[in-house]
Amino acid sequence: MKALILIGGQGTRLRPFTLNRCKCLLPLVNRPLITYQLALLKRFGFKEVVLAANASQPGLSEITRLGKEFSLSVKLSLEKSPLGTAGAIRNAAPFFKKEKAILVFNGDFVADFNLERIIALHQERNPVATIILAKVRNPSSYGLVVMDERGTIRKFVEKPAPEEIVADTINAGVYLLSQEAINFIPAKKNVSIERETFPSLLTSGQDLCGYIHYGYWLDVGSIESFIQATRDILDGRLSREFLLPVKEEKILPGVKIEGQAIVAPGSLVKPGAILRGHVVIGPGCYVDQDCLLEEAVLFEQVSIKKGSVVQRSLVGRESILGSNARLTGSVLADGSYVGDFSCLGETKFSEQ
Ligand code: GDD
Ligand code: MG
Repeated sequence: MKALILIGGQGTRLRPFTLNRCKCLLPLVNRPLITYQLALLKRFGFKEVVLAANASQPGLSEITRLGKEFSLSVKLSLEKSPLGTAGAIRNAAPFFKKEKAILVFNGDFVADFNLERIIALHQERNPVATIILAKVRNPSSYGLVVMDERGTIRKFVEKPAPEEIVADTINAGVYLLSQEAINFIPAKKNVSIERETFPSLLTSGQDLCGYIHYGYWLDVGSIESFIQATRDILDGRLSREFLLPVKEEKILPGVKIEGQAIVAPGSLVKPGAILRGHVVIGPGCYVDQDCLLEEAVLFEQVSIKKGSVVQRSLVGRESILGSNARLTGSVLADGSYVGDFSCLGETKFSEQ
């Protein structure tokens, strides 16, 4: 079976980081987000992956290179202008002419799916599409999917309003689609699979089947969920088999680690620094003496000078923090500069 990954979205909820690179290349615990999906595909024996992307999207050659690292053949299906989730699948149809069914991934989740079991279920029951579902506490920012006790899907409500939330199962962004489902999508048009194709297939009486995944799953499409995924991975909530080994500096003499910290090779953390809680330090970073990093993520080549404090913050690549600066609850774009003794995110002004 071949896989298709949809990576052509704008990544607006991950701005400012998606202003310079696509969502699927953002470093999640020091690995590009898409590598979690490539690792999953590789683990279940996939050999060919097609990426549905925008032709003007930056980083496409980098993604192809990453595919090779996993010994996966990566092909690109390009859109001149965004075709939406279903339009992108239809546009990629020529890559899948000989396939009975294909596996489609949204390009922004981290999960430990058992693809073997899911594919077996699909082949046994042979519906027009199988949709993987996850259970969440609040379905409002997802696609709600209502399924009956036989696993037959009855209803879709994309981004439901509070009064529309009648179940806790949502579309996890993974589908097995038959040729019939792919051909059902009109060609050369912007079409949403969640809002248009799936509901229309239901209305036309087709069998759509749901499979509830009870393991780990998270859509990493917003700053909040990016932070959540970082914490979960550092806490070991994603089983090791689904992770690539990350090279990390093991010995940090004189550095106090009070929690789950990971430091990429080639980074320097000076003695007297404290890494507290969940901390990720990307490659080529410099953290000077007596700095405190607490619940912090530094992307690549960030430099933090003596005595600075970074708490509950994400710092974009090639950013510089001067000495004795204080960053609390902040998100800094790539290439930011914060001067000595600056204080961000913690106002010293009174309310009036
Ligand atoms: N090629 C291409 N072209 N890809 C696209 C396009 C497009 O025009 N638009 C979106 N994508 C890709 C995104 O890059 C992302 O990987 C995926 O399609 C889904 O888009 P998102 O923008 O992340 O959607 P969402 O998170 O709001 O909702 C989707 O995912 C939820 C689960 O994470 C829906 O599928 C929901 O139903 C679902 O619950
Ligand atoms: Mg998403």
